[in-house]
Amino acid sequence: VKLGCLISGRGSNLQALIDACADPTFPAEIALVLSNKPGVMGLERAVKAGIPTQVISHKDFDGRPAFDAALDQTLRAAGVEIVCLAGFMRLLTPEFVTSWGDKILNIHPSLLPAFKGLDTHQRAIDSGARFAGCTVHIVRPAMDEGPILVQAAVPILDGDTEDSLAARILTAEHKAYPEAVRLLASGKVTVEGLRCRIDAPTD
Ligand code: GRF
Repeated sequence: VKLGCLISGRGSNLQALIDACADPTFPAEIALVLSNKPGVMGLERAVKAGIPTQVISHKDFDGRPAFDAALDQTLRAAGVEIVCLAGFMRLLTPEFVTSWGDKILNIHPSLLPAFKGLDTHQRAIDSGARFAGCTVHIVRPAMDEGPILVQAAVPILDGDTEDSLAARILTAEHKAYPEAVRLLASGKVTVEGLRCRIDAPTD
């Protein structure tokens, strides 16, 4: 199954997917890495792994629909079957999201549906919660919403700062994203409303 990864920056989750795809038993490969920002570290990671890259800057387009149409065209031309948002900092239009059905994944650094949006780590600490975590979900038009595929929880410790919590969650993200891609790419996921059912292995 061919993946298209959309990034805007550091690309550590992209790296986790690159590493997962190096395993011959992993059911997916990255066909294209697309960034809306030039010169970001994620692009370097892709080049190093021999993966085709492309920069499509949102600044070159007159509005979201035109930008998303360019993304869509590029992804489809590369034969992409599953789109992975990996630190992609642009909202996608409902038209784009709907046209890909259940084939767009996003990773978010909170236990959704808590703490959608930005600044999630500090908000989790300030809430007094004892656990935080990450979520990989199928993308729906509303931000950070959609059927949840994989979650991982980590403790919030006394004395945690935004940075220490973010680092603990990031380690969990790097396991959760490949796991979610593996499930979706191997056709084991059935979506029922907001719930994902994972088929039991048959062998
Ligand atoms: C991650 O924390 C991810 O959950 C969020 O943006 C960050 C991207 O980090 N959506 P990276 O670019 O994958 O290192």
